[in-house]
Amino acid sequence: MPEAAVVQQVSKHFNTGRRVDALVGVDLAVDEAELVVLLGRSGAGKSTLLSLIGGLDQPDSGTIRVGGQDVASLHGAELDRFRQRTIGWAFQSAGLLPLLTALENVWLPLTLMGRNEGEAITEARAVLRAVGLEERADHRAYELSGGEQHRVALARALAKAPLLLLADEPTAQLDSETARDITRLIRLAADSGTAVLFATHDRAVTEFADRVVTIEDGRVGASG
Ligand SMILES: Nc1ncnc2c1ncn2[C@@H]1O[C@H](COP(=O)(O)OP(=O)(O)OP(=O)(O)O)[C@@H](O)[C@H]1O
Ligand SMILES: [Mg+2]
Repeated sequence: MPEAAVVQQVSKHFNTGRRVDALVGVDLAVDEAELVVLLGRSGAGKSTLLSLIGGLDQPDSGTIRVGGQDVASLHGAELDRFRQRTIGWAFQSAGLLPLLTALENVWLPLTLMGRNEGEAITEARAVLRAVGLEERADHRAYELSGGEQHRVALARALAKAPLLLLADEPTAQLDSETARDITRLIRLAADSGTAVLFATHDRAVTEFADRVVTIEDGRVGASG
């Protein structure tokens, strides 16, 4: 399988009073259709790595390529396009617009990618069906349960058919059964071709992984 994302020798530090080496010489690759679990404790550097891969921040050194593009070389409108089209995000909080319906939360972002409204609505209905929320499509986001909101957020990310899905503890707020449902949906996304990097401290998730990469004090290592 071709590589969707390749991280080479990436380092990143923060300086807020005291120096923190959040990432140190990180190497990592995620193939298309591969689900890689990034397993590590709080403060290990998981979110930092995801934010660099997703183009939200820049490394001090090293290179990151996503879909063959050097992320550091992207600026302005190109970087916006990359964040909007190539990357899908799933976070700990669902991050929906509360007054919009489930369906609107999914289809409106698609129009930012240039889809016409009719197509976007059709696509949004299809992904909401896939996450089991067809009957909630016209409910406002604030009326949905936490787990339902997470499924809508995931539907929103998957509707774009991103090359790479970056999942940052997307199940942390959920009961274990709902967390499994969400993780299964992410597994299905990988099975249909999306590369997934899934950051978590929860070993239970590794059951769904093709590969587990551990991270500790900003350093990665392969593990089972
Ligand atoms: N913007 C920032 N400014 C200063 N330090 C930061 C910043 N972001 C992260 N850090 C530090 O970098 C280290 C790695 O943080 P990061 O958020 O990547 O960890 P994490 O593995 O995602 O942890 P968690 O599981 O708690 O989300 C931590 O020591 C953190 O305090
Ligand atoms: Mg984090």
